[in-house]
Amino acid sequence: SVTGSSLLTGCNTHDMSGMNMTPGMENMRPSVTEIPFTTPLRFPETITNTGQLTAKSVIDAILPGKNARVLGYRGGMLGPTIRVQNGSDVSLRFTNNLDEESNIHWHGLLVPAEMDGHPTQLVQAGGSFTYAFRLNQAANMAWYHPHPHEKTGKQANLGLAGMIIVETPAERALNLPSGAYELPLVIQDKRLDGNGAPTYSPSMDDVMMGYMGETIIVNGVAGAVQTVSTRVYRLRIVNGSNGRIYNLALSNNAPFWLIGSDGGLLPTAEQVTAVLLSPGERADLLVDFSKVPVGTDVFLKSNTFAGASSQGGQAFNILKFTVNKAETDPFQLPAALGMVSPLSTASATKTRLFDIGIAMEGMNGMPMRGMHTIGGKTYLGSRIDESVKLGDTEIWEFDNSKGDEPHPMHLHSTFFQVLNRVGGRNTLYATEKGWKDTVLVMPGERVRIIAQFTKPGLFVFHCHNLEHEDDGMMLNFRVN
Ligand code: C2O
Ligand code: CU
Ligand code: CU
Repeated sequence: SVTGSSLLTGCNTHDMSGMNMTPGMENMRPSVTEIPFTTPLRFPETITNTGQLTAKSVIDAILPGKNARVLGYRGGMLGPTIRVQNGSDVSLRFTNNLDEESNIHWHGLLVPAEMDGHPTQLVQAGGSFTYAFRLNQAANMAWYHPHPHEKTGKQANLGLAGMIIVETPAERALNLPSGAYELPLVIQDKRLDGNGAPTYSPSMDDVMMGYMGETIIVNGVAGAVQTVSTRVYRLRIVNGSNGRIYNLALSNNAPFWLIGSDGGLLPTAEQVTAVLLSPGERADLLVDFSKVPVGTDVFLKSNTFAGASSQGGQAFNILKFTVNKAETDPFQLPAALGMVSPLSTASATKTRLFDIGIAMEGMNGMPMRGMHTIGGKTYLGSRIDESVKLGDTEIWEFDNSKGDEPHPMHLHSTFFQVLNRVGGRNTLYATEKGWKDTVLVMPGERVRIIAQFTKPGLFVFHCHNLEHEDDGMMLNFRVN
């Protein structure tokens, strides 16, 4: 079989005959069910440069009072938030107590190839591996999750993920809101059973469009509420969902500041009223509650958006803020934030074009269903798909002009800049004024990015819709 996946129940033959592909995709994703926003938001504990991460089955409550079996790297869902200084050495011991292989990928950290959690660098059930590297990058928010091919979607969905914050002296000097005024948030959606346990059994429709859930959770809890003072808060958000895109906004329609994205701070703050965030992307936001009357609730919500037929048709709340305390705020928005010197297209030695999306794969001469592909290929761990010269700058173009699904395309080993987007929205998003590692390519769009490749070794690039990735929408590239 091309993917050999046993996880994709109801999908193991990749044969379209007999599959019920319902027409009218827009109505097929589970609609979001809100529960009362009454559970205090929680934050995973913070660790720094060293520690133990054990992938295992644990008990935790996503719904209030409903203890359920999930996966985690510590006592509950998710792993600790890793807060580290640039320039320091990180050494994290990973132990795999699952009954299948796993590993850890550091999404948004520039680590050596042999520490990157490549899908062929697996830790077998019962095994251990120490991930050790020295940080050398700008301040940013990164995250970590498993990366075993065909199992990433399941393991991440059932609870294996965590947040990483890299700090630098330059960023600290900006005096951005910190301590109680800095809130790291991982937003996910889960499909819960009657006991409040996350379930993962994708149908063919789920493989095609991404495994979406009816329950939105933040840092592992549904219906979360956070009390805030009349101050500016820094919300550091990762979309850790398998397939769901959020169009983040505030329920009072107030504008807010976007100050950073995947690779760190933007050159200057961008005032926005909504931020589209696809799986894998991060948004660093400043939200000003100083003019909100004490006693008022403001929701972080997702607005509807156009451009993706399989999702975006529904608005829903994600997290409730209750303003409960008047405080004077010393915060001043800095005029300049991060360094983003444009990579010049003249310095690019090569342009690579990739058609992305559904392509037919044949097996033994038999036509099979269309699979998620890059350049017409599905993932093969032993095949080097692209060879890049160490130190080169290249332009990569992702062409989704014939597709009808959104694809958040992610490169390991480097950050890139988005050059342009043709078709669809025809424009760059505010998040794309900074360094990126994941770029949303909507149906009908061609997106060009530019990157310099400074880490030698074997890496992957893939769609970060985890069902698409597990379906094969991933290729290897080697930097020599
Ligand atoms: Cu967050 Cu290769 O992935
Ligand atoms: Cu990554
Ligand atoms: Cu995709």
